[in-house]
Amino acid sequence: MATDQLPGANMVTELSHAVVSHHLSRLRAADTPAWQFRQHARSLGTILAAHATAALPTQDCSVTTPIETTTCQQLKGRIAAAPILRAGLGMIEPLTDMIPEIEVWHLGLYRDEQTAMPVHYYDKLPPDNPTDVALVLDPMLATGGSAAMAIETLKKWGVPKILMLSIIAAPEGIEKLTSQFPDVEIFTCAIDRMLNDHKYIVPGLGDAGDRIFNT
Ligand code: PRP
Ligand code: URA
Repeated sequence: MATDQLPGANMVTELSHAVVSHHLSRLRAADTPAWQFRQHARSLGTILAAHATAALPTQDCSVTTPIETTTCQQLKGRIAAAPILRAGLGMIEPLTDMIPEIEVWHLGLYRDEQTAMPVHYYDKLPPDNPTDVALVLDPMLATGGSAAMAIETLKKWGVPKILMLSIIAAPEGIEKLTSQFPDVEIFTCAIDRMLNDHKYIVPGLGDAGDRIFNT
């Protein structure tokens, strides 16, 4: 079934943007070195973050310009970025640049190489006092196992509004998230064709963590 026919498809935004296509072409290329890969990931993260945060709740505030006092809007509530280690770190700076007050809560997850199942190894979430919004950051949404575990963790913390930001997504991962979490909006630069036998995204870009950190 095409991803736009899946239940919850209205919660999925695939960006259509010439600059996104340009950076994606460089990001995917196997001969792009790590230092350039990081730059392209940062550019794509910026565009993705701008789209994903467009409808965040705002509240009125009174501002005195040099000319008069007027009503403006400012972001409302506490906002978190939740990068999934390691590769999600490559998308952090766009968020901290865009929203300097943002809280960053790292989630340590890796995929078991044999089973492709996610393994949780780190978080420092407190037992209470959740943020009002959390943006989960991971360049790759493949089976969706890691993203689902991250979202579960944030929901357990009590976060009422969660957004998922991935540079590249596979139909399998989108289907898993839209069926398991119909309230979570997904923003991606590209929905790729499929997963291969090793659960890598095709055509994809390979292992995002290795490419960002040159390992
Ligand atoms: C990659 C990627 C995601 C996950 C996606 O991380 O950054 O977290 O795989 O796959 P999934 O949707 O099938 O769960 P990886 O496990 O390679 O860890 P790393 O970032 O530390 O290299
Ligand atoms: N993780 C990656 O880094 N790349 C993929 O294609 C799938 C999972």
